[in-house]
Amino acid sequence: MPGPFARRLAEVAAGLNAHRDLWHPRPFAERHMPWEDAHPEVAAWLDARPDDEFDLTRFGPDDPHAAGAPPSLVRWRAAADALADLPRLPALPFALGAKAARGIGGAKRAQIEAFVGCFLAGFSPPGSETHVLDWCAGKGHLGRALAEALGRPLRAIEWDATLCDAGAALARAQGLEADFEALDARSTAAAARVRPDAAAVALHACGDLHGALLRAATAHGVSRLAVSPCCYNRTPPGTSVLLSAAGRATGLVLDADDLDLVHRLPTAGGAAERRRVRQTLGWRLGFDLWHREASGRDAYRRMPAFPPAWLALPFAEFAVRFAGLGGVEHIPGREVGAYETQGVLRLARALRREAVRLPFARALEAFLLLDRASLLEAAGFDVALGTFCGLDETPRNGLLLARRP
Ligand SMILES: C[S@@+](CC[C@H](N)C(=O)[O-])C[C@H]1O[C@@H](n2cnc3c(N)ncnc32)[C@H](O)[C@@H]1O
Repeated sequence: MPGPFARRLAEVAAGLNAHRDLWHPRPFAERHMPWEDAHPEVAAWLDARPDDEFDLTRFGPDDPHAAGAPPSLVRWRAAADALADLPRLPALPFALGAKAARGIGGAKRAQIEAFVGCFLAGFSPPGSETHVLDWCAGKGHLGRALAEALGRPLRAIEWDATLCDAGAALARAQGLEADFEALDARSTAAAARVRPDAAAVALHACGDLHGALLRAATAHGVSRLAVSPCCYNRTPPGTSVLLSAAGRATGLVLDADDLDLVHRLPTAGGAAERRRVRQTLGWRLGFDLWHREASGRDAYRRMPAFPPAWLALPFAEFAVRFAGLGGVEHIPGREVGAYETQGVLRLARALRREAVRLPFARALEAFLLLDRASLLEAAGFDVALGTFCGLDETPRNGLLLARRP
């Protein structure tokens, strides 16, 4: 009998599968979206919107610009939001002391205070751990904060020895008993540190690194567990991004581009940065159009990153260098310079179609979090899943709290 998280996981997977044509095809790679045939009114409405509404930030019917949006677009957005829905976890008020806060930036500090607040509120009765284990700790900001709050020593695992030294120095200055080990979180030695007497925490352990902690916790036991996953798109090739049997049983297949969608951030920075991003994307698309027509192959070609200084070149010169970078042969007969304007126009069109797709990024992330919750649930853990802070603090604001009864 599947547990509540496995059931919700199956529901979210079914909703994502039903809307696959909205989020899977990539407007930057494909010139026509499958939904455009049945819903030309959505494409027409988006195409009529002014440019400044499409700057790679979030967009949807809760956006004031979206007044009068076609009903289909409103419905799709509502469907995405319903699939993405996660509760805000309860939290106790928690503020870092002056010593513990030393060297922590504003956004990270807010994340840590919110994370610890949820940890303190999330377990009743509290745990019986002898120490806190911070997994992929960086300088151990989170682990130091929690260890101090619980009055327990800290053990931290972090493979970068420089970060370990810096974390150990901060712990000493804080008057905290701490041991930073330079270990690879994927090693058996690291897994052996996950024990029933540890309160194990991980804030933004990338890719499969949080998976390694979850697997070790289900195998060896742990006193309490709190994990905020991150960077699903850095899962090593050949490794399934889904950790649970329930996740794999949904049949929802996510490719690398789908996982990239989860991590699409609003473009931060001011007007200059947004101009730079627009030019980069527009030039890539202009190059892509040229390459399709010159080569006679109407398919998107992946190209590598290029040095930002190339944006100051004339487009034709950029295109020659870019072609060299991607190993594209010179294809005679097509004047590449003319494709700059076409790229800008195609970008405007693609950004408008991304507005259909972007709301599903949160739904995909909810699916991945539910997969992790289902793994723990199947292993007999009591699990809570929700958000620990607002999106302003971090877009990766999902948190799993778990313990074996
Ligand atoms: C996104 S940072 C998070 C750091 C810290 N938890 C925080 O929230 O500030 C991920 C950390 O994982 C470390 N890391 C990456 N790969 C690792 C591995 N295989 N084993 C251990 N640590 C690793 C990185 O050096 C980095 O400090």
